[in-house]
Amino acid sequence: MTATVALPAEARVYLVGGAVRDALLGRTPGDRDWVVVGTDAAAMRAAGFKTVGADFPVFLHPLTGEEYALARTERKSGRGYTGFVVHSDRSVTLEDDLLRRDFTINAIAQGDDGALIDPLGGQRDLEAGVLRHCSPAFAEDPLRVLRAARFMARFAPLGFTVHPDTLALMRGMVAAGELAHLVPERVWQELKRALGEAQPSAFLRTLRECGALAVVLPEVDALYGVPQRAEYHPEVDTGMHTERVVDMAARLAPGDAAIGFAALTHDLGKALTPREVLPKHPMHEQTGLAPLAALCARLKVPNAETQLAADACREHLNVHRFDELRDATVFDLIERCGGLRQGSRIDALALVCEADKRGRLGHSEADYPQARALLACRDAALTVQAKDVMREGLEGPALGEALRKARIQAISAARRSFSAA
Ligand code: CTP
Repeated sequence: MTATVALPAEARVYLVGGAVRDALLGRTPGDRDWVVVGTDAAAMRAAGFKTVGADFPVFLHPLTGEEYALARTERKSGRGYTGFVVHSDRSVTLEDDLLRRDFTINAIAQGDDGALIDPLGGQRDLEAGVLRHCSPAFAEDPLRVLRAARFMARFAPLGFTVHPDTLALMRGMVAAGELAHLVPERVWQELKRALGEAQPSAFLRTLRECGALAVVLPEVDALYGVPQRAEYHPEVDTGMHTERVVDMAARLAPGDAAIGFAALTHDLGKALTPREVLPKHPMHEQTGLAPLAALCARLKVPNAETQLAADACREHLNVHRFDELRDATVFDLIERCGGLRQGSRIDALALVCEADKRGRLGHSEADYPQARALLACRDAALTVQAKDVMREGLEGPALGEALRKARIQAISAARRSFSAA
């Protein structure tokens, strides 16, 4: 049911964008977006549609709450992805509206009768697996460089590639400095969504191919070309390793961008290793914290994601060599990562560390018992509560110390039973 009852009588309405694309791909469509032609804003309002924003002629359907946009054209009037002159009146056709869109696969419309209107060859590109820009106006919106990369993270597993002409346009946009006009929130939003897709490495590769990775994520771009020891990292290159880790994180924790972000940034310190000590990376867990903080501040990464990334950066080697840690060190690690207050932070940390270990060439199916051991220790520590150690006269720091000791003992017992099992 399209619930078109409330539309102005003269209007024609089409489903457009992601909903049509996803249905053709056999994927579950997300939000439905509609385009309306042959009417105007006043008639839409009179029919009960609610205005959404001042900048675009977009309305909410009074019954379904879905977005209905008047067909429009846009002309660049400033820099960045804002600064457009929007034109929408009864003379704007469906074809005009489709032409202003980003990719041909997003520019297919579907009428009430189910017929597809596809003047730009979107179906052909869907079948061929090609991300191709609709028109040279693509270059007017720098956000589309990130969107291209994000769609690649989603569709690369289906064999998609970016059309060479589109890639050339993207290179030109980057070279012209257009990406400098993106606000941090939008960059983070696209990065976050890309990390939640099936193959985030394709996001990194696409950005790198057009030079955008060095602009939006210079700390990650700097990892390419940095060697690691081949006996531990058969893939050698730290950028290649990072690509594998983000893909592994997407496999182990599908759709979890916090885990993806921590996977992406856990080795940032390796870009700072002095040349003379390569391919070793002593202290990279510590040196990685400063570039991570810079990246998070620049993109305004939310607290939860920032914290997990910092925990993973600082602790991933400790978790890898979990068996060598003393019981008290295990306790301190769990406490440092906030695992006593919020146990789920340890689950997330364990997953990032597992993605790191299995994100190495030839190790993707490796077992990672350290994760199980870490979680067992977290559980053991949490079985002991303050009331269990409370005695007459015990308070303040002394109570805290007694609780710490009891929890370390619980960890010790858990590790013994764990290694005996
Ligand atoms: N669009 C565009 N340029 C942008 C943003 C959006 O051309 N910078 C157009 C595309 O036609 C897109 C539609 O607006 O299909 C809806 O945008 P959005 O909801 O962001 O994307 P979807 O294609 O629906 O993709 P997703 O599945 O990621 O939501």
